[in-house]
Amino acid sequence: MMIPRRTFTMSLLAASLAGACSSTPMTPTPSPASPPPPFDPKRGYQRREVSAGGRTVVVRAWEGLAYVSRPVEPAWQVMNLYIPEAYFQGGQIDGRTARTAPIFLPNSIGGYMPAKPGTPEGRNGPPPAPGQTPLPSAIAVALTRGLVVASPGARGRTLQAADGTWTGKAPAAIIDLKAAVRFLRHHDAVMPGNTARIISNGTSAGGALSALLGASGNSPDHEEALRALGAAPARDDIFAVSAYCPITNLENADAAYEWQFGHAHDYRRIEMSMLDYQMQRREVAGTLTADQIALADALKASFPAYLNTLDLRDAAGRPLRLDAGGHGSFREHVKSLVIASAQQALDAGADLSSRRWLRIASGRVVDLDFDAYGLAATRMKLPPAFDGVALDTGENQLFGSSRLDKRHFTAFSMQHSRVVGAQQADERTVRMMNPMHYIGRSAATVAPHWRIRHGTMDRDTSLAVPVMLGTLLAQHGIDVDLALPWDRPHSGDYDLDALFAWIDRVTAAPR
Ligand code: DHB
Repeated sequence: MMIPRRTFTMSLLAASLAGACSSTPMTPTPSPASPPPPFDPKRGYQRREVSAGGRTVVVRAWEGLAYVSRPVEPAWQVMNLYIPEAYFQGGQIDGRTARTAPIFLPNSIGGYMPAKPGTPEGRNGPPPAPGQTPLPSAIAVALTRGLVVASPGARGRTLQAADGTWTGKAPAAIIDLKAAVRFLRHHDAVMPGNTARIISNGTSAGGALSALLGASGNSPDHEEALRALGAAPARDDIFAVSAYCPITNLENADAAYEWQFGHAHDYRRIEMSMLDYQMQRREVAGTLTADQIALADALKASFPAYLNTLDLRDAAGRPLRLDAGGHGSFREHVKSLVIASAQQALDAGADLSSRRWLRIASGRVVDLDFDAYGLAATRMKLPPAFDGVALDTGENQLFGSSRLDKRHFTAFSMQHSRVVGAQQADERTVRMMNPMHYIGRSAATVAPHWRIRHGTMDRDTSLAVPVMLGTLLAQHGIDVDLALPWDRPHSGDYDLDALFAWIDRVTAAPR
């Protein structure tokens, strides 16, 4: 709840009216205004008890709340909203009130598939052993700590209308998350929770979208699509981002992958499928063909040029660069983050003697053989890892169009395509999915606080991807907490105590 918000909405309305009356021709014609979906804090909710960590909180639960007035996929463009009952009675939880409580915004997006809104009962982590209680969901933990929770559903790459039109291709999911934020801001005056403290959370594709939401606040690129959906007239920048293993920077991720795994010719591929809205993963082993090795080599050779265009610097201001062979200060920087993670594990008593790629002397991790580490982690994806030359990846399907299920999204894979008549997604759509394009650009508002985690045994994308993201943010004055948790495979929400301690810290500033 923030008092000045109404004024803002009014001024936005005034600005758009002024635009409509000006003599400058406007193209394309803006969609006719229709009021955003309503929200009534006194109606339409269920009372629920939510427990986590030995604490129980009573909440009002609105599930399946529409957040746009002209949905394309009404079953998916909805959110679940949970608000502690105490905030309707003038109460406090952990010192938080209706006015100050941060709003936790977790998405359940996986594999760039359509996602349902999350629930407090949603499982976190592997199924518990018989007789053991399951780990609480991030939503349950957030509520018991006095946060308001809004979990948006979103369109994804497989959705198709009855007439055959594809309805969830890029950038649909980010438009949906932004629309959900706008809905919260629009109803701020009557809804407990501080819209100046919205914190998004997501894992993998969901981590990528969490990052994109945080990087592209109020971006003009996304405006037209938001209007078409009848999103509320409000801002969509957020306060903080939590991103676990974000599968992001997709148009550069093929080269980044080969920079780390290019020499690894044996792979353990994961076949992904969806069951009951959960990603299912099955491992298949094999060896690259000569053709695939040639693709890997070409991609690997192209990475340093991209990396160097970013002009990254470490915290001390030293340039992070790569030579043509992929060696140099950026590689040393990535190594130093893995070494720091290994040191933490060692200090906590882990036995790392089997990790021959680490050099440990007198209780200190002093070096890491980066190539041997890549081999030990093992390659998971075939080159190109994301823009498949046979249009056979989830990302190819993400970048389809309303008429075409799958497209390329890099010039490299378009040139090497094995599919007759294959098409390439337009540059604007590709840009709208990549947070890297919005950081340091005045047209977007970047969230001031970020927490990025990518496990050292995660092979779904290169370590370079989260490191480039975190470094670029930090260079632009953003508060970044980036770490590579030891031995973690591709996963998220595994350290909720630490996540919520971070949230406590970043939201503690005066508001
Ligand atoms: C996810 C995993 C991937 O390897 C990928 O390419 C895209 C998404 C996921 O788990 O969300």
